[in-house]
Amino acid sequence: MTETPWPYPLVDPSANQIFAYFGRKGSGKSVAAREHFRAWPDTDRLVIDINGDADPGDDLNAIVLRGPLVQLPPRRDSRVPETFRWIADPKAPSFHEDIDKAIGAALFPRDRKVLIWIDEAGEAFPANRTGPNARLLLHQSRHFATSALLCGPRPKGLDPLAYAQADRVTMFDVPSPLDRQRLAETIGIPAAKLSTVMDETKRKGDHWSTMYHANEHRLYRLPPFQLT
Ligand SMILES: Nc1ncnc2c1ncn2[C@@H]1O[C@H](COP(=O)(O)OP(=O)(O)OP(=O)(O)O)[C@@H](O)[C@H]1O
Ligand SMILES: [Mg+2]
Repeated sequence: MTETPWPYPLVDPSANQIFAYFGRKGSGKSVAAREHFRAWPDTDRLVIDINGDADPGDDLNAIVLRGPLVQLPPRRDSRVPETFRWIADPKAPSFHEDIDKAIGAALFPRDRKVLIWIDEAGEAFPANRTGPNARLLLHQSRHFATSALLCGPRPKGLDPLAYAQADRVTMFDVPSPLDRQRLAETIGIPAAKLSTVMDETKRKGDHWSTMYHANEHRLYRLPPFQLT
């Protein structure tokens, strides 16, 4: 267990990566994902905004998109990465298909580098009902140029691949023992150990997190992400 100041351990923005964030309401998931999203350089960015709250910040000057999204629009200036914010329509009968299509718009064309932020991962990766593009992202992101930041209150109801395939799993306050156990089994850390570490993290204060780093197969304790 290492206590680290942000931004260590450094994110390598040239690699395709999946980061998952879990924790109860208000624990700091969206803040963390948003900071990663904002800090990621040299990439087009797509917010798949399911509840209309995933705001990347006015300074990114995001192009807002609505309705079924098949392909991302071209850059306004070929040298300047673009930020898109696609807002889902929860009333649409094709709600889940539309979300999956939006993921497809980030995957294809394969050579376009895109970072996705999905704040309600449960709608995009529902257990046993993950759509074809979402499945492709989880299984084969290394064959694409797509990275993804996925937030969810609990692993319950979520396709376990969404965190089994994650390069980093950042766990804020996850109170349910069952959720802790599910996370521990999937990342391959003994459940009792993970739970002890999470309890210690919680005692540090609000918005602290325990981060599993898959490549290193190791846990880090992170202080609250700094807001930009
Ligand atoms: N790193 C931080 N530094 C300072 N304040 C923070 C930090 N993280 C979270 N907060 C505070 O907590 C609030 C809730 O955080 P956040 O929106 O990230 O929660 P969440 O886990 O995404 O919750 P929800 O499940 O409701 O989406 C923020 O609006 C902010 O006021
Ligand atoms: Mg949130």
